[in-house]
Amino acid sequence: MTKYDNNFTDQLRERLSIVDVISRRVPLVKKGQNYWGCCPFHNEKTPSFSVSEDKGFFHCFGCGKHGDIISFTMESEHVDFKTAIAELADMAGLKLPEYKPKTAEQIEAEETYVTITTAAAKIYAEKLFTPEGTHALSYIRGRGFSDEMIKKYGIGYAPKNNIIANKFVNTKQDKLIATGLVRRGEYGLYDFFRDKLMFPIFNARGQIVAFSGRSLDGSEPKYINTTDTEMFHKRQTLFGFNFARENIHRANRAIIVEGQIDAIQMQCNGFGETVAPLGTALTEDHIAILCKANRNIVFCFDGDNAGQKAAARACGIILPFLRDNSNVCFAFVTGGKDPDEILRKSGRGDMEKIINNAVPLVDFMWKITNKNYLINTPSGKVQAEKFLKSQTDKITDKLLRAEYEREYNNRKFNEWHKWKKTAENVHIEVPEIDNVIKNTLIYIVNKYPEIAERYGDFISKFNLDLDSNVKIDFDLDLNAAEKYIISLKIQKYIESLEKQKRDLTARGLAGENDVSTEIRRIDDEISRMRKKFEMLV
Ligand code: UTP
Ligand code: MN
Repeated sequence: MTKYDNNFTDQLRERLSIVDVISRRVPLVKKGQNYWGCCPFHNEKTPSFSVSEDKGFFHCFGCGKHGDIISFTMESEHVDFKTAIAELADMAGLKLPEYKPKTAEQIEAEETYVTITTAAAKIYAEKLFTPEGTHALSYIRGRGFSDEMIKKYGIGYAPKNNIIANKFVNTKQDKLIATGLVRRGEYGLYDFFRDKLMFPIFNARGQIVAFSGRSLDGSEPKYINTTDTEMFHKRQTLFGFNFARENIHRANRAIIVEGQIDAIQMQCNGFGETVAPLGTALTEDHIAILCKANRNIVFCFDGDNAGQKAAARACGIILPFLRDNSNVCFAFVTGGKDPDEILRKSGRGDMEKIINNAVPLVDFMWKITNKNYLINTPSGKVQAEKFLKSQTDKITDKLLRAEYEREYNNRKFNEWHKWKKTAENVHIEVPEIDNVIKNTLIYIVNKYPEIAERYGDFISKFNLDLDSNVKIDFDLDLNAAEKYIISLKIQKYIESLEKQKRDLTARGLAGENDVSTEIRRIDDEISRMRKKFEMLV
C-alpha cells in the first residue's frame, strides 16, 4: 500500500469530522454520546452502526466493521487508499501533498535532525550557566523563572559566536543547515541564533524541532524563530502543547495565550492546559490540533488593540470547528499587559478571574458586530447582518448553525428593533384593547420575538410597554402564540368592518347614496373572516 506522510493523514483526521464524512452517505441520528445509523456494510433495518465524533471511529455492532474516515471512504466507495485520501483532502479543502513515501534516508534524516537539535539544546542549556551566559541567566531569573522551570523548558543561551557551526564540524553541512540552526554565508557556516535567550520548541511527540530566541539587548525583533524546516512548521505548531496535552485532557479544556512566556508562566501557575502560537496569528491548523485534543477552548488575549483584533480573527477561524459539545470562550487580560504580567504582579487568583469571566463565543461575536457597525443606521444594520450571516455560515454543523441564526435573530429583534413609541406610530389609531390582551401580547413579544417580527406592523399599533413585567395565568407555546395573534388580527379586522358597515348604514339612512352593494360586500367579508376565525379556535 502506498504510504502517505503520517502528518497528512493526521491532518485529514483533524480537519474532518467523521460525522460529516459519514453523514454524506449514511443518515445519522445522535443518541447519547454517539451518532447512529443503518450500517452501509451489511443489510439491516434497525441501526447498529455507531459513529463517535470524539474518537473519530465508526463501529458496527451488527457486522463488527470498524474504522476511521479513511477506511470508511475506501470501503463505502470501493476505492483505494490514494483515491480516498484525495477525496477527503478535497472535502477538507487541503492540497494533496505530492505522494512521498518515507524512505529509509528520510527516516534517517529526521533522526539526524533531532539528534542535532537535541544536542544543540544541551549546549545552549549549559551555556546559560557559564560566565558568557550571565546576563541571560539573570534576565530569565528576573522574569520569575526558577531553576526548575529553566530545566523543564530547556531554556538556554546562544552565545555571540558560531557555537553550533563550530561544534558540529564533523556533521555534514547539509544536515546542519536543514535544522535551521546554521546558515551558509560568504565565509562559511554561521549560527542563526547569536546572543539570544533560547527556548526549545518541541513537537507533539516531545522532540525538539526548533528554537525561539529572545533578544537580550533590547534589539528588534524581540523574538526570532527557526524558519520552517522539514520538521518544523510554524503554522502547525503550538508552543507548550507537548507539556499541556495531558492537562488539557484532565482540565477538559485548553487555554490559548498570545506569547510563549505567557504559556510557560500559565503552565507553572496552575493552568497546565495552556498553549501559545509561535510568533504568528492563530491558524486553522492550530485550532484543528486543539479541537482534536478537546473542543473546549478559552482564548486569552492581551487587553490591547492587537489582542482585540486577534480575537476577532480567531472567532472566524474557530467557527467551522464548532460542534454541539464545543465550549469556546474569549477572555481579555485586564489590569496588566499579558498573562505573564498578571501572574507575577497579582497572582493566580486574578488570572483565574480573567479566565472565569471569559465571554462565550456567541456573545463575543455579537459584541464585535455591535462594536464594528453602526447598527442605528439602516446601512450599518445591513452590514452588520451581512457580517453575522457570513460568520454563522461558517458553522458546518447544520443544527448548530440554525441555533446560532435563531439566537441572533432574537437578539436583532430585541436589541436592534426594540420598539419605542416613535413619532410615526403616534397618530396611528390605537385599537381599544383590554389589559388581558395587552399583557398577553407583551408576553408573546418578549417570549417569541420571531413572531413579533413577523406581525410587527400589527402589534406595533397597540403601543405596548414592552419593559413592563407581566404575568399571564396560562402558557402559550410558539404555535398557540401565533394563533393568538392571528385570531386577534382577524377579530380586530372584523371589528373595523363592522364599524364601516355602521357608518355606511348611517349614510344610507341619511339618503346620501345607495350603499346596499357596498354593505353586501362588507357582509360577505365579515362572514368569510368569521369562518376563518372559527377554523383557528
Ligand atoms: P509580545 O510582543 O506580546 O511579546 O508577542 P511577549 O510574549 O509579551 O514577550 P515578552 O514577555 O516581552 O518576552 C507575543 C508573541 O509573539 C511572538 C512571540 O512568540 C511572542 O511570545 N513574537 C513577538 C515574535 O515571534 N517576534 C517578535 O518580534 C515579537
Ligand atoms: Mn510579555
